[in-house]
Amino acid sequence: IGGNKMNLKDYIASIPDYPSKGIVFRDISPLMADGEAYRAATKQIVDYAQEKEIDMVVGPEARGFIVGCPVAFELGVGFAPVRKPGKLPRKTISVSYDLEYGSDTLTLHEDAIKPGQKVLICDDLLATGGTIKATIELVEKLGGVVVGCAFLIELQDLHGRDKIEGYDMLTLMEY
Ligand code: PRP
Ligand code: MG
Repeated sequence: IGGNKMNLKDYIASIPDYPSKGIVFRDISPLMADGEAYRAATKQIVDYAQEKEIDMVVGPEARGFIVGCPVAFELGVGFAPVRKPGKLPRKTISVSYDLEYGSDTLTLHEDAIKPGQKVLICDDLLATGGTIKATIELVEKLGGVVVGCAFLIELQDLHGRDKIEGYDMLTLMEY
């Protein structure tokens, strides 16, 4: 897949005061809507992953699927979905994490990753880092080795990066 010279930020819509006042929402849907931009972003992650001998790609619902599935497809490996409770039909493991108000839980099928498998985690956005941290915990509970975390966007002010210190990471755009 070609195309590396485009400015991906041209394909991110920034919506002020959404979903609440003072928040700027970074919307990836224009990027997904443009075949060339979507492929270029996917290619950058695939290039990053190429030397890592990835066995599985893991992505948290819902936007992690949008980023992770085409990467898995290009790498020729499988994709395992991380989901909210009650969505996966077989035996799962779960991890809970704190939000600003309350907490959230993510789940993964217990046979999704085999011990020792090398895992790339993909998501659209790194904000506070809660989602990626919980996803890493799920993979490691199953004995998987997280060899990389790839995001389209990093919101630097929220310092999510600090939560995953020591893990290799790629972000395509920073705000
Ligand atoms: C958004 C985004 C990331 C996460 C980042 O997902 O897609 O997964 O938040 O935030 P964090 O670093 O503070 O955890 P959201 O929970 O809104 O759900 P969605 O992907 O289903 O839209
Ligand atoms: Mg998400």
